Amino acid sequence: MSGTPRLPMVAGNWKMNTTVAEGVALAAAVLERCSAETAVDVVVLPPFVHLQPVREVLAGSRVRLGAQDVFWEDSGAYTGEVSAAMLADLCDLVLVGHSERRHLLGETDAETGRKLAAAVRHGLVGIVAVGETESEHDAGDTFAVVDRQLDAVLAAQSTALTADGWVIAYEPVWAIGTGRTATPEQAQEVCAHIRVHVERRLGAAPRVLYGGSVSAANAAELFACPDIDGGLVGGASLKPDVFATIVAAAGTR
Ligand code: 13P
Repeated sequence: MSGTPRLPMVAGNWKMNTTVAEGVALAAAVLERCSAETAVDVVVLPPFVHLQPVREVLAGSRVRLGAQDVFWEDSGAYTGEVSAAMLADLCDLVLVGHSERRHLLGETDAETGRKLAAAVRHGLVGIVAVGETESEHDAGDTFAVVDRQLDAVLAAQSTALTADGWVIAYEPVWAIGTGRTATPEQAQEVCAHIRVHVERRLGAAPRVLYGGSVSAANAAELFACPDIDGGLVGGASLKPDVFATIVAAAGTR
């Protein structure tokens, strides 16, 4: 573990939820409940079409804005895609490699790496999601899977990644949206492994978050683990009171 203090991050991945008006109201509610929390890097990740209005809501606050995905090219004939060059005007961070994109939409490890490279090229902090499926977990392949996912991402970078230029989110697929959270021991073990793996390759690791059914009830014990630097929160990020409780739990880390 590195000796540098790592500010905990709690990022709310809204996924494909809320209309623009609902998203603006949700962002305002998050701002009201979380903006005083100075010990946590609070992030919301709304759908693309919400970015501009939510940006206006969050302007001047500590709550940071990110997108849920990005394409790897800067411009061109890529119907429906959104580039990092476009996002750089609107937000600070972008999630890449979420398991729903990998498993529902067929996104590969290499494509995830290209997406991170595009994000970094445009000054966005990429949050790279990794994690094993239930069958990979049951087969004892968790470390091999996250290593493969991370190595593909690292291989796609042409500029050096700095520890604060990206974030890793460990999200076991079997824990996403299932209410079946990894135990703090399981999550800690994999997050520690990820940190060491990346430190060996780059010399320094970024913050490592845990995601998968994070709730008001389990956040504090997950965030108390030494190698878990916060959470990537799905369903609970749509409920501002619950999200604020999770943020507060990270603040007492
Ligand atoms: P849940 O918190 O709903 O399990 O989702 C986790 C997730 O996928 C965050 O990116």
